[in-house]
Amino acid sequence: MNYLFGIKKTTLLLLTITFFQHAFAQNQPAKNIDGLYRNGMVVCATPNAAKVGLEILKKGGNAVDAAVAVQFALAVTYPEAGNIGGGGFMVYRNAEGESNTLDFREKAPAAASANMYLDSAGNVIPDMSLVTHQASGVPGSVDGMVEAHKKYGRLKWEELVQPAIDLAHNGFAISKKLAGSLNWGSAQFKKLNPGKTYLLKAAEWKEGDLLVQEDLAKTLTLIRDKGRDGFYAGKVADEIAEEMKNGKGLISKADLKNYHSIWRKALTGMYKEYKIITMPPPSSGGIALLQLLHSVENYPLHRWGYNKDSTVQLIVEAERRVYADRSKYLGDPDFYKVPVDSLLKPAYIDSRMKSFNWNAATPSSAIQPGAFAGYESDQTTHYSIVDGQGNSVAITTTLNGSFGSKIFVGGAGFLLNNEMDDFSAKPGVPNMFGLVGGKANSIQPGKRMLSSMTPTIIERDGRLLMVVGTPGGSTIITSVFQTILNVIEFDQGMQQAVDSKRFHHQWLPDQVNIEKDAFDSATIEKLQQKGYKIITGGVGGRVDAILITKDGYYYGGADPRGDDSKMGY
Ligand code: DON
Repeated sequence: MNYLFGIKKTTLLLLTITFFQHAFAQNQPAKNIDGLYRNGMVVCATPNAAKVGLEILKKGGNAVDAAVAVQFALAVTYPEAGNIGGGGFMVYRNAEGESNTLDFREKAPAAASANMYLDSAGNVIPDMSLVTHQASGVPGSVDGMVEAHKKYGRLKWEELVQPAIDLAHNGFAISKKLAGSLNWGSAQFKKLNPGKTYLLKAAEWKEGDLLVQEDLAKTLTLIRDKGRDGFYAGKVADEIAEEMKNGKGLISKADLKNYHSIWRKALTGMYKEYKIITMPPPSSGGIALLQLLHSVENYPLHRWGYNKDSTVQLIVEAERRVYADRSKYLGDPDFYKVPVDSLLKPAYIDSRMKSFNWNAATPSSAIQPGAFAGYESDQTTHYSIVDGQGNSVAITTTLNGSFGSKIFVGGAGFLLNNEMDDFSAKPGVPNMFGLVGGKANSIQPGKRMLSSMTPTIIERDGRLLMVVGTPGGSTIITSVFQTILNVIEFDQGMQQAVDSKRFHHQWLPDQVNIEKDAFDSATIEKLQQKGYKIITGGVGGRVDAILITKDGYYYGGADPRGDDSKMGY
């Protein structure tokens, strides 16, 4: 039977899907549908970590408890980016609407210096900020989890670390994607870690192989039993210092002892009737997101439609201008006076968009970072969690590149970050994401390198609406931006908004990167005629997000580009 009520079944299915997608977008009551929950939800990079988070919520843990457990579980099940040797940012909003953010970004070691990656002729030494012991910043993740738990946690710390210990000790069956990543990394792991066996296997890794991480289990056990001191002092600190000594790295025991994450007031702004709660510097993500949203706010995106040529042109021109500002004005606010208020003044953002011309692409060479009167001067991972009370957490955390510096801490079973590459090694010289910077993001001892990570929470009329974020280097900001527009302007449901194809422009290089099939051929032609250089590839991300329907159901979007998983109850 291909027909029901005289309508072709496939048509009926499409109509049903469209109806529900529209219902979600409008936040209409949507009951009895698979995938909608109201007691708690976790969306993150691996099913094993999502399950850990869900169990914590079921046990009575809140969103922060679940986040801590997920962070450690990702360090085991997603070694490309989940970490204890890296850092990240948390945006938090409680059920009463109070918000806060935690900066557990890595810091430059005390022995770091502005020209540390330059040779005697003043040129950047290739790969030095990427795959050497000097590529690592002082890790912040463990301190971040300890601080988050101290302030907001409900369950006991030990209960939150234990599931990760079990996963590391007992092992877990790896996915096809993780097998591929481990095989991809293995030549460099061997080269950079002579004599070590962590993450290595005699034969190729295959889907279903058991990955056991005994040393990591021991390190996690110390963190479980001693909290912060399990990592920043004692055996693990000794191991990190020893690793640094052997590889001419810079992180000292004093750097570890002095590392502290920082609570920072959330950056907030409005897009139409939506309140955006996001990460302030040292991430550039929040400021850039608010600038982008304001740049497009007064245009009829909804009428133009998703990925239509006018929509794309407007968004690209906004992105070009915002990333130019990023290159000059964004850096660690504890070292550089970031002109946050000036950058976010509506009149300033509007003035930047004045040179936008519908007839032709603005060449990036014609755009410079703005000037203000009175101004002197495959890897990261994101997870989104909401608990039954409505407390929410958005965390993006990273080692920077896939598997970070690819250097393991001998005996401790974990990877170190290569976050130092996020600094500007030399003014105007692009980093691994093609991003350029200058003084604001120069290397200084103890300074945090600029980030693009954009964990974000959105509310409407005082109610929680969305928790969102993604990895993707420089494309993080534009992916979060487009996912938000997909829901608010283009009536997409959460999963569809995540699935939808994305595109990206970052001022320099002057090109629009698009996912395969993001635009139809007519759109590409129109844009090319106006002078836009379109390159397929170089975008992606793994957006993991939760939308809250009007009657309080949690609707997840887990990115199909990875092994990302959504679980609720
Ligand atoms: O903080 C940042 O902006 C970068 N270290 C993020 C790196 C990243 O997203 C890599 N993932 N694909």
